[in-house]
Amino acid sequence: MAKKAARKAKKKTVKRPVKRAAAKRAKKPATKRAAKKAPPKPRPTKASKTKVAARAAATRKDQPAPKPSALASAAKVATGFALLAMDEITKRLPWAKNENDPIELLKTDHRRFENLLKEGEATTERAKKGRREILKALTSELNVHEAIEEQVLYPALRPHAEAHDIVLESIEEHHVADTQIKELHDVATDDEKWGAKFSVLKESVEHHISEEENRMFPAARGVLPKEELLALGAKMRALKSELER
Ligand SMILES: [Fe+2]
Ligand SMILES: [Fe+2]
Repeated sequence: MAKKAARKAKKKTVKRPVKRAAAKRAKKPATKRAAKKAPPKPRPTKASKTKVAARAAATRKDQPAPKPSALASAAKVATGFALLAMDEITKRLPWAKNENDPIELLKTDHRRFENLLKEGEATTERAKKGRREILKALTSELNVHEAIEEQVLYPALRPHAEAHDIVLESIEEHHVADTQIKELHDVATDDEKWGAKFSVLKESVEHHISEEENRMFPAARGVLPKEELLALGAKMRALKSELER
């Protein structure tokens, strides 16, 4: 009996390594086990896909934009130049302007005065007839110009604080130019004073034009609605035609 028991005990001892191997298999890393036993991932729903896409988009936004290539930059510059050129061409087309725009009407007059003043300043005492003609044109055209400004545009602008002071100054500058022109008519065209007086008149009118175009006209566009400006322009055109008859 004792021998039998000893054999049994020996058998049990031999089987022990098998148990250890099983235990070793049981002690494999948890991750491997989990990987094997992990349930299949749920399929992404429409909402989750949207979220993922939104996050990806947000991430892309945070990243700096790629630098444009030299060719793309050159194309952009060329497009800018083309647009500017188109704008200039459009401005020069007669049909592109609104004939009742009072600012355009007055600016056209201003360019005419600048030309007459340049011509007059270039004359000498020998150009008696030329001086008389230039002074005559300047006098009548300035009179009409001042009248349409003082009777139509200035009264519309004067109540606005932004234009009030420049309107008052402009009326005074008209008065100065009228006085200078009157004095020029009293001086003989071959008198040496004629050229000096004409140069002072030129400076005076050029200053006035600059004040109107750089201060008054931008203010007019700012304070008067387009419809009112066009209505004023129509009135000024009508008065100008009437005065020129
Ligand atoms: Fe003017
Ligand atoms: Fe004026």
